[in-house]
Amino acid sequence: MKKLIAILSLALLPLTGFASGGGPELESAGIDLTDDAAMQRGAKYFVNYCQGCHTLKYFRYERMQDFGLTLDQIKENLIFDKSKKVGDLMTNNMSQTAAAEWFGAAPPDLTLTARLKHGGGDWIYTYLKSFYIDKSRPFGVNNVVFPNVGMPHVLMDLQGVQEAVIETDEHGNKHVAELKLVKPGKLSPEEYDQVAKDLATFLTHVAEPMKLERQRIGIWVMLFLFVFFIVAFMLKKEYWKDVH
Ligand code: HEC
Repeated sequence: MKKLIAILSLALLPLTGFASGGGPELESAGIDLTDDAAMQRGAKYFVNYCQGCHTLKYFRYERMQDFGLTLDQIKENLIFDKSKKVGDLMTNNMSQTAAAEWFGAAPPDLTLTARLKHGGGDWIYTYLKSFYIDKSRPFGVNNVVFPNVGMPHVLMDLQGVQEAVIETDEHGNKHVAELKLVKPGKLSPEEYDQVAKDLATFLTHVAEPMKLERQRIGIWVMLFLFVFFIVAFMLKKEYWKDVH
């Protein structure tokens, strides 16, 4: 029995997780991948504010059915380029080379960003909230989690204008201690947070549409393996009984 417990606790070890490291502090968006309404709003913001520059080249419009939209709703409200079909990938017409010239870096495809960035959806959420005025930058803004970013603050209209309170530490390194809203936008800070959260939720879903399904199946697989392990263990005991 002791042996069984020892083996079981070893088997469960990977579930205990690892500590995460470094980087600027991220705000938790509290993303809920079962929140269809949030993903629908996020998709709407994406096609209106982001798709001009960013593609989702591994994601098809029609997959938005997964969070409760009908094909007609997608066609009418979310596809602006009428040459596109609902089964097409979410690309755009921006030339990568021209964009690289304009912004200093071409706007990257965002399909997998939520998986590539440390912090995932929380990174995107914090990024969208962390633009601040910096006259030394080409578009007049900088970003706390992405220093010297090439992207203009496309949601400034909604969020308003933020200024950074810069602090210098004992080693002479400058860092942003705090962001202050100096000119309100069309939305209140709470409403803007919701917009950022909706976009982050949508992009997290896009990065791994099967995540909930994977977790659901995963639990059954673990349960099966657990039961199978006990059966196998008892069988092994039975076989070896006569040998010892
Ligand atoms: C005017 C063009 C433009 C628009 C519109 C735009 N972006 Fe960007 N974005 C960029 C560029 C350029 C970069 C790359 C910046 C760099 O590498 O310095 C970028 C970078 C990013 C990144 C970081 C990606 C990475 O892999 O590092 C994210 C996330 C992002 N944008 C999200 C958004 C979202 C969400 C919207 C819509 C609200 C949006 N962007 C709208 C131009 C744009």
